[in-house]
Amino acid sequence: MSDGKFLATLAGKRFPTPPIWLMRQAGRYLPEYRAVRATTKSFLDFCYTPEKAVEVTLQPIARFDLDAAIIFSDILVVPHALGQKVWFEEGEGPKLEALTDAAQFGQLSRARLTDFLQPVYTAIRETRGRLAPGKALLGFAGAPFTLACYMIEGQGSREFAKVKKWAYGHPDSFGLLIDLLVEAVVDHLCNQVEAGADALQLFDSWAGVLPEEQLFSWSLEPMVRIAHGVRARHPKIPIIAFPRAVGPAALMYRRSDAFSALSLDTGIGAHWAAQELQPHICVQGNLDPIMLVTGGVAMEREAKRILDKLGHGSFVFNLGHGVVPQTPPDHVARLVEIVRSW
Ligand code: CP3
Repeated sequence: MSDGKFLATLAGKRFPTPPIWLMRQAGRYLPEYRAVRATTKSFLDFCYTPEKAVEVTLQPIARFDLDAAIIFSDILVVPHALGQKVWFEEGEGPKLEALTDAAQFGQLSRARLTDFLQPVYTAIRETRGRLAPGKALLGFAGAPFTLACYMIEGQGSREFAKVKKWAYGHPDSFGLLIDLLVEAVVDHLCNQVEAGADALQLFDSWAGVLPEEQLFSWSLEPMVRIAHGVRARHPKIPIIAFPRAVGPAALMYRRSDAFSALSLDTGIGAHWAAQELQPHICVQGNLDPIMLVTGGVAMEREAKRILDKLGHGSFVFNLGHGVVPQTPPDHVARLVEIVRSW
């Protein structure tokens, strides 16, 4: 177990400067990641090779001394473990054999999820063993709506028309898919905790495409059910919710009965968050990943602005979304320096 700054912050403790980690901190912007990545053709095989997953998980901690590591894996391992065909095409991102009717998801089953995802749990166990005690290890999963987006669209999308038409037109059958995903994600997250994850993050990357009432039913409510399900088995595990691009609807995610922190995308103003969210729940975020690409005085000014707004309350420094491949690693080192010397 880790008792460092990151977990203490999630538990409500304050420090002179906040802890920092970055979404997608292990990735293509690091030459040492690309070197390990080059040894396996298929991205999923790479995720399922514990030695490699452990190595790339630890790389950004070794290089930048971040306060938390996030296990190297992907949100799409859950649909894969349920029996859906998933693959990654070079330069194109994820592809799935899209679900087109309710009968098809009747064939998905969570019975073999725990066996299927053993390599992820092995990687967590080994990473936890190699990580310094003061550094936290995050496990994660995609939230049901974001997983359903990929499962029904078969890939990323601009409009998400298929998944929305299904959710709006056939809420009963869409609800069955969401229920299955809630249970599968609870299993996957509990397995990660049992393997040694110190905290969890739920990524609802596509929540922002839904109108408010649908957002409640298909994003917030399933995420709360997951948090309660995980907490029933692991009462103390901190859970961070990342409902991306939901704007002021972030207000409804201030659910301290379910979440320990709310991760904010770049679109949420730090000043508004300090007034409306932070008094109720710890917040994480929200530097624009392109500021990290830009670096220099622009990045410094913006990082300090965020620190000045949010650093006086319960806060974890992070980006508003993942590190992008064109990020110069030196800018990450500089960002850590800025945060630590604030
Ligand atoms: O360092 C970390 O953050 C841990 C690893 C991690 C990955 N994916 C590795 C990855 C995490 C937490 C994720 C989450 C994830 N995966 C999300 C939610 C967060 C978000 O970005 O909104 C989503 C939507 C996915 C699905 C996914 N995986 C996409 C859309 C892509 C292609 C886009 C891209 O960047 O290429 C992936 C591939 C992927 N997952 C890569 C990495 C490092 C790049 C592929 C490679 O290295 O070959």
